[in-house]
Amino acid sequence: MIEVQRTLLEWYARDARSFPWRYVNPEPYHVLISEYMLQQTQTQRIAERFPVFIEQYPNVQILSETTKQEIIMAWQGLGYNNRALRLRECAITIVEKFGGIIPDTYDELISLPGIGPYTASAIMAFAHGKDMAIIDVNIFRIYARLMGISDPADAKKSMIASFADQAYPRGKASEWHQALMDVGARWCKAKHALCNECPLHIHCKSAFQVNMQTKKKSRKEPSHRDVPNRIWRGRTIECLRNRPLYAESKELLLSAIIEHPVNEQDIHWFDQTILPALVKDSLIEYDMHTHIVSIAS
Ligand code: ADE
Repeated sequence: MIEVQRTLLEWYARDARSFPWRYVNPEPYHVLISEYMLQQTQTQRIAERFPVFIEQYPNVQILSETTKQEIIMAWQGLGYNNRALRLRECAITIVEKFGGIIPDTYDELISLPGIGPYTASAIMAFAHGKDMAIIDVNIFRIYARLMGISDPADAKKSMIASFADQAYPRGKASEWHQALMDVGARWCKAKHALCNECPLHIHCKSAFQVNMQTKKKSRKEPSHRDVPNRIWRGRTIECLRNRPLYAESKELLLSAIIEHPVNEQDIHWFDQTILPALVKDSLIEYDMHTHIVSIAS
């Protein structure tokens, strides 16, 4: 094993973060659920919600039998509600196509709803112990910096991919990549790198030279009243979850979401942007005649 691998794995054995989905030989179902949840939501939030979700849905069979409405309700606090529906579809596919067993090939995993290259490789390594390079945005940044590219915006994907293929110790892909996730969360952060505390600094070509002025431009998201529509969509589902009676009146629902007196522009925006997006994602149902909005059944 090369020195950088030894350094990182020894550190990880001593000081890994503890999470409810991290243990030796985890159940593949638990890895699937945690990786699904972790796609866009902070680890701490998932650490709180994961055990509750597993209690409600202890296995893939039970998850596959849930209704849309039930899983949208259970997804409270996890953000990006359409992922709840993808996860339900994923469970149904696993039961129907794979007899309820979480697949252990990359091609089968990536064919499942809501599973992209990152999640497929994470399940391969973390759930099935397979040798597989994993690259998420944090690991990408760490590899770029290890190679001497202090701003990851300057790194080519293909360069990082071939570095990633060579970097991990065979037979230890799970520990290696989860250790890198910890390094990214604790020290090698996007906006500030704490190189003097990082166990990898003696192996890192960018140590103490990380340029914090990253070139990545922040994208302007479509917004209303200075709040991204993504947040408004989440708030709409949140209101319907907590007070299903809002379903009776679109106006009441809108004023609960906006928390201000509602004007013509709000109504137009809600009708043209938020409602159609939620209907398209199958998260809600909207009756054009009665104007009743409800969580999808
Ligand atoms: N983010 C995605 N997967 C993770 C894991 N297994 N541990 C910590 N953070 C993660």
